[in-house]
Amino acid sequence: MGSHRIEPSLVLQNAAKAEKDRTLGLFDLTILGVGAIIGTGILVLTGIVAAQDAGPAVTLSFLIAATASCLIGLCYAELTTSIPNSGGAYIYTWVLIGRLPAFFTGWTLLGVYVATTATVANGWTGYVKSFLYELNVHLPSSLLVPAGNGGLVNLPAVIMVLLITLLLMQGTGQSKFVNDCLVCVKLIVILLFIVVSIRDVNPVNWRPYFPYGAQGVMTGAGAVFFSFLGFDALATSAEDAQDVQHSIPRAIVYSLVISTTLYIIVGLIMTGVVKYPKLAVSEAMSYVLITRGHKLVAQVVSAGAILGIIAVVYAFIYAGSNIMKAMSRGGFLPASWSKLNERSGSPNRAILLNGCLAAALAGEFDLHYLALIANVGSLIVFFLVSLMVILLRKQYPRLARPFVVPGGKVVPLLAMTICIALLITISKEAWLAYIAWLVFGGVIYIAYSRHHVIA
Ligand code: ALA
Repeated sequence: MGSHRIEPSLVLQNAAKAEKDRTLGLFDLTILGVGAIIGTGILVLTGIVAAQDAGPAVTLSFLIAATASCLIGLCYAELTTSIPNSGGAYIYTWVLIGRLPAFFTGWTLLGVYVATTATVANGWTGYVKSFLYELNVHLPSSLLVPAGNGGLVNLPAVIMVLLITLLLMQGTGQSKFVNDCLVCVKLIVILLFIVVSIRDVNPVNWRPYFPYGAQGVMTGAGAVFFSFLGFDALATSAEDAQDVQHSIPRAIVYSLVISTTLYIIVGLIMTGVVKYPKLAVSEAMSYVLITRGHKLVAQVVSAGAILGIIAVVYAFIYAGSNIMKAMSRGGFLPASWSKLNERSGSPNRAILLNGCLAAALAGEFDLHYLALIANVGSLIVFFLVSLMVILLRKQYPRLARPFVVPGGKVVPLLAMTICIALLITISKEAWLAYIAWLVFGGVIYIAYSRHHVIA
């Protein structure tokens, strides 16, 4: 395990990009983080988890998942500022553990980002469908349902993912403006929901607060953990970030604080306006508004959700292409995949491959399976990241550390424990899907990577 490690100095040198060529400042990074984090989780999952797992205590589930994400986010911040590289956890593994584990970490991340993109795009189609339904436009269901669920293809999801892919290929400088606008729309819509619905809250609906007991709260935390995925995507933008040592840790913490605050308020309002068993619908926000007669606002919220979820897809295709670029630079994947386009400065081949793979999965596979792969893979990577904070301090005590997680080993150890606790609760089905992805990766490693890897 300890063999075939690479030196941090080599990674730092490879990742060196002049400050003037870096396009993302603290504001852009925070927006990118919020854009990646807030999406299907809050818009689709909250109501379902409240109804089926946690009841009104879904707010507590959010708090537990947020605490876990914050601990992991701090570990990410220490690593990403010490070794700024768009490969994120994949590169840290190569530096600290070895070549083969690095390949599998990168491969897992690739799977996580592609699966999350596809999951989110799948959920998006639900909002499109209900929005069009209100306008009396009915699309044939065979073009809305993936083959894995008995339809033909989830066409809106495929088209949306491909359009975002084309947008990203124009370069982050150009596309970040569009992304910033989409994230603003998403925040405005959530704030609109809060302002309009807060007056309809009836505290009687919060009783009983724990209808499914403490176990329900934990199951809920495992499920809403998906709502926080995305903060890690920031670590992959280290090469495009200005003043990386300061901007990345702050952007991670700011985007987590913003999203947690909104999640808890939205959870409180949803369960305060409508009794929790009735919330088992995928478009819970508009449903809550409609039950109190705010039809027009509900329509605006649906439209905003449609735009907002697009920003999540944007962030995850970007993150996936960064991992692919970094793995290609390392020789694990073909060298041409990391080539930057002259005009846009973006790794267009990696973006295209990621986008096409995500579009194919979104179009043909079941949302449930895709989400499961994303959850298992993320938790494994988060466990490794927390472990590597400890390893980096031990193996490279003299490496410059612009940001250090306070409290010694306490935070990384706590983060590792939480990851294990959540991994244990995940179903066998999810583990099998993840192992199948690893086996596919193993074939690629044997057939290609081991002959081309640079160190
Ligand atoms: N956190 C992202 C979402 O909820 C993946 O859509």
